[in-house]
Amino acid sequence: MLHAAITGTGVFTPSQVITNDELVAAFNAYVERYNAENADAIAAGTLAPKSPSSSEFIVNASGIEQRFVMDKSGILDPAVMHPLLRQRGDDEPSIMAEMAVDACAKALEKAGRTADQVDAVIVAASNHERAYPAIAVEVQDLLGTGGFGFDMNVACSSATFGIQAAADMIRAGSISKALVVNPEICSAHLEWRDRDCHFIFGDVCTAVLLERDSDAQGPHFTIRSTRCATQFSNNIRNNNGFLRRSRPDGMTDRRDMQFMQEGRKVFKEVLPMVSTHIQNHMADEGIAAPALKRLWLHQANKTMNDFIGKKVLGRAPEPGEQPNILQDYANTSSAGSIIAFSKFSDDLAPGDLGLICSFGAGYSVGSVVVERA
Ligand code: COA
Repeated sequence: MLHAAITGTGVFTPSQVITNDELVAAFNAYVERYNAENADAIAAGTLAPKSPSSSEFIVNASGIEQRFVMDKSGILDPAVMHPLLRQRGDDEPSIMAEMAVDACAKALEKAGRTADQVDAVIVAASNHERAYPAIAVEVQDLLGTGGFGFDMNVACSSATFGIQAAADMIRAGSISKALVVNPEICSAHLEWRDRDCHFIFGDVCTAVLLERDSDAQGPHFTIRSTRCATQFSNNIRNNNGFLRRSRPDGMTDRRDMQFMQEGRKVFKEVLPMVSTHIQNHMADEGIAAPALKRLWLHQANKTMNDFIGKKVLGRAPEPGEQPNILQDYANTSSAGSIIAFSKFSDDLAPGDLGLICSFGAGYSVGSVVVERA
């Protein structure tokens, strides 16, 4: 029986940071402009004024303190309010491919491997820069890996679903090494002018190298098992695609092409789904709560993670048992749990068990039980 292992991880972190205070100052300047420009309609009662945001609300509601982004100038310009990313020429690497190459190179270095030893590249993300050719095939070309590449999208759960796909191929023997990479440019599908969600996302790219565990050259994490589940809901969605919707006036409604959510409903519906999923996965593996040394959860909301950790462990997690990175990175969609895993796993001892879990739109939830070796 072949077993898969995670032998390397890499994180590409953009160089630009936006603090909550910077974000709120730009948002509130936009609100002032909007309300001034629409003063007559607002006074006549035909248009609702927009309300200001606050850093205090953002930290209390989400735990987020800052986010990394690919371009802060456009996002913070009250007249623009979205990243200004230069359109790449057809003969230039795409932005997501560049981010992916950086994260993959770090994962390969950590595992002591070179790109030509890799048989498959899976680019698993919540939004892809283009439909085709697959970003993964471009990453394959830029890195010089062999085999094949393909893109996949299960929104915030893309990383764990990608790990399950790669681990299954390794277990079946069709490949021996795969890179699963999650380039997330969330800033480009977030509506920065919507007070309810303007603080939620950041940009990043994570990568993991999976190998047959018998091939691993250094400390690694053997994958004990993986579990994926989905259940349809429209409460988190992005209708971006080639069938753009038109409004009655013939205009395209860009808001419909960006991230939308019913945050409260997500809270109520996803929490029990995820807690039960993790508990069932642990029961199938015969793992009791005290045996679990670490939980690397999807990074969307601190309250959410506190709740899941408490439910799974049967008590409030000790500091470090369930590391959060969302205060620094915000929600980075599929990459969040892998950032936490990458930054907070080297200290585990041989035999220690941990669980990576990502969840989100679909709804979807994926979990990976790993053992330090
Ligand atoms: N600044 C100040 N006040 C704000 C605000 C902002 N930026 N955004 C909303 N508010 C106000 C609302 O208007 C509301 O006021 P009201 O009570 O007078 O109506 C109040 O704050 C509470 O808003 P609500 O949307 O209920 O906040 P919340 O506590 O649910 O937190 C989220 C919002 C988005 C942080 C939270 O719902 C969440 O994290 N949901 C799940 C997210 C998730 O996992 N999504 C998956 C995405 S991958």
